[in-house]
Amino acid sequence: MENFVFQNRTKVIFGKDQEQVVGQEAAFFGKKVLLHYGGGSIKKSGLYDTVVESLKEEGVEIVELGGVLPNPRVSLVRDGVNLCKEHQIDSILAVGGGSVIDSAKAIAIGAHYDGDVWDFFDGKAEVTDCLPIGVVLTIPAAGSETSGGSVITNEDGAYKRAVGHDKMRPEFAILNPVLSYTLPSYQTACGVTDMISHILERYFTNEKNVELTDRLCEATLKTIINNAHTVIDEPTNYAARAEIMWAGTIAHNDSLSTGRVGDWGSHDIEHEVSGIYDITHGAGLAIIFPAWMKYVYKHDVNRFVQFANRVWDVEIDLNDLEKTALKGIQKTEQFFSSIGMPVTLSEVDIDDKHFAEMAKKCTEKGPKGNFVPLHEEDVFNIYELAK
Ligand code: NZQ
Ligand code: ZN
Repeated sequence: MENFVFQNRTKVIFGKDQEQVVGQEAAFFGKKVLLHYGGGSIKKSGLYDTVVESLKEEGVEIVELGGVLPNPRVSLVRDGVNLCKEHQIDSILAVGGGSVIDSAKAIAIGAHYDGDVWDFFDGKAEVTDCLPIGVVLTIPAAGSETSGGSVITNEDGAYKRAVGHDKMRPEFAILNPVLSYTLPSYQTACGVTDMISHILERYFTNEKNVELTDRLCEATLKTIINNAHTVIDEPTNYAARAEIMWAGTIAHNDSLSTGRVGDWGSHDIEHEVSGIYDITHGAGLAIIFPAWMKYVYKHDVNRFVQFANRVWDVEIDLNDLEKTALKGIQKTEQFFSSIGMPVTLSEVDIDDKHFAEMAKKCTEKGPKGNFVPLHEEDVFNIYELAK
């Protein structure tokens, strides 16, 4: 096991009706909040009214910025930064999913910076300060509600890039599984795929003697797999929605990566796809992850055998370990298909036109991934495998 420091300060408030305490929680960080949200799902569900009422009850002044798109854009982030500076905002409240939360985080670091906020995303500036962020989560998926990361798309050049810093972890996150009842099944499935991928990125490590985190990863994966069909077939099943919502946070709050080095190649390879084609991140991962697995499994067949056996209950064939490993990959792919995810680029009408460009952009600052470092040619081959 590697040495590690684990610190995740986000206060998680979980359960039915918990969004009603948002005013109290937000007031703790000041009396002027930027209320940030997406394209309107929160108005349709009534959550917007609940949040506004709760903030007003606590005397919190609201400045609003809605309109965050999935794959959030830097242009809106810049608008948010300007609002924060103009109104001397104390904190940002993100009501929505990963896109809204990531946009809020980018605004929060930009609010204390004199240059252009994109500087953080292309490595020209380091995070030193960040406005406090609160979250009311509406979709379990990205895990951004407790993570220190933000992923933003720059329309200029179709770059989708990430920044991460402990200071960017939200101060509090309200998780009410009931708020996810209104999710369309496709978004639910994309969320499930994303959280599974967050665990797999951590699971495929070169670190030995990480039994506890291996088993925590496997338990979380199994829980997600066991509940995925239920949340899709019965969107108002509280028990299943609750398991999925908490699993989505656990998948990405960094407890599962303690003492081990994760891979993250598949995420970077996917970000190039959603950067250019604007597909949903989870759907992109359902396509890229199995292709990545097929490309790298020979690097550590035993780890893939363990995955096949413990997560997918594949019987180990001691005479043919590769066969067992491949069966685990096949099961992963079949599971993604079974919840309605695409597993090839052609299913989302993406051809090979931009493969070379995406592979080049992905590796322009060096090889990607830690399990097996991938160079431009490898990334290109993975896009080919995902065709
Ligand atoms: O915009 P609205 O109208 O709210 O609709 C959203 C959006 O269209 C809708 N939605 C959300 N909650 C809903 C709902 N519709 C009905 N009922 C509800 N309760 O769902 C759509 C997708 O929302 P989005 O926020 O984009 O989803 P998600 O949480 O999957 O976030 C995806 C983004 O997170 C990034 C991804 O790259 C992507 O840009 N990620 C962020 C990470 C992080 N910060 O740590 C890690 C992840 O790996 C990921 O890269
Ligand atoms: Zn992800």
